[in-house]
Amino acid sequence: MPSLLELQHLSGFYGESAGVRDVSFSLSDGECLALMGRNGAGKTTTLKAILGMVSRTGQVSFAGTDITSLRPFEIVRLGIAYVPEGRGILARLTVEENLTLVAQGNRDAIREVLAEFPWIQQRLKNRGDQLSGGEQQMLAIARAIAVRPRVALLDEPSEGLAPTIVEQLHRKVAQMKQGGTALVIVGQDIEFSLTLADRLCILEEGRVHYVGAITSQAKAKELVVEALALSTKRSDPADGSSPMRIMEKVDD
Ligand SMILES: Nc1ncnc2c1ncn2[C@@H]1O[C@H](COP(=O)(O)OP(=O)(O)OP(=O)(O)O)[C@@H](O)[C@H]1O
Ligand SMILES: [Mg+2]
Repeated sequence: MPSLLELQHLSGFYGESAGVRDVSFSLSDGECLALMGRNGAGKTTTLKAILGMVSRTGQVSFAGTDITSLRPFEIVRLGIAYVPEGRGILARLTVEENLTLVAQGNRDAIREVLAEFPWIQQRLKNRGDQLSGGEQQMLAIARAIAVRPRVALLDEPSEGLAPTIVEQLHRKVAQMKQGGTALVIVGQDIEFSLTLADRLCILEEGRVHYVGAITSQAKAKELVVEALALSTKRSDPADGSSPMRIMEKVDD
């Protein structure tokens, strides 16, 4: 299958300093890549470099066209949806305005999304900041679905959410994938990402540590656990609880 999204030696910079260097991978329609790595590894910067939100070198291609010189809004308009860390819901706008804005008034898309997320119907007049964290994340995903993207870039979608919400969210993201949307899922939530992913990219200190197709879930999990645990022994939970989140989240 020809690639839908292809990164070739992509680096992203903050001023002079590189947040991530030399990332290459490709995705076809309906494929999912789990982009994993410890805090500060360069995951968010990779997404920002795809979108042109940081200065970059290397190349990003979408459906066979070089999009490296395009600006973020032009890239999003091509059909690449972005759900940033911390959801990116517009707090002072209502739920309805949040949806209408991204769907650019496409009533059919909004109707479909409301059928998918019936609870939203009751909250249309609420402001974004009057939703719970879980609801905000659901709304962020709903907005991404409403633009009917060909690729969705999801930054830490399950971060800080209760297990039942994570499950619901997982189902929605799985539906997006089944509908043919290619996905890049960023995060440290092994369960969430690897159950959806066909490919895995692990970043370490701003560079690619591993990239490849997932042939065995067990093997992939082993690779990720090892990469996330490296040199963070001191913060392993003493009670032997889940090693999946090794360091506390630090806001960007
Ligand atoms: N706005 C910024 N200005 C300067 N440096 C930054 C900025 N944002 C991130 N960095 C640096 O770039 C590197 C990669 O950061 P990035 O946010 O991509 O990591 P991450 O893998 O998304 O981490 P996390 O899991 O904490 O979200 C880090 O060294 C970080 O300190
Ligand atoms: Mg990040």
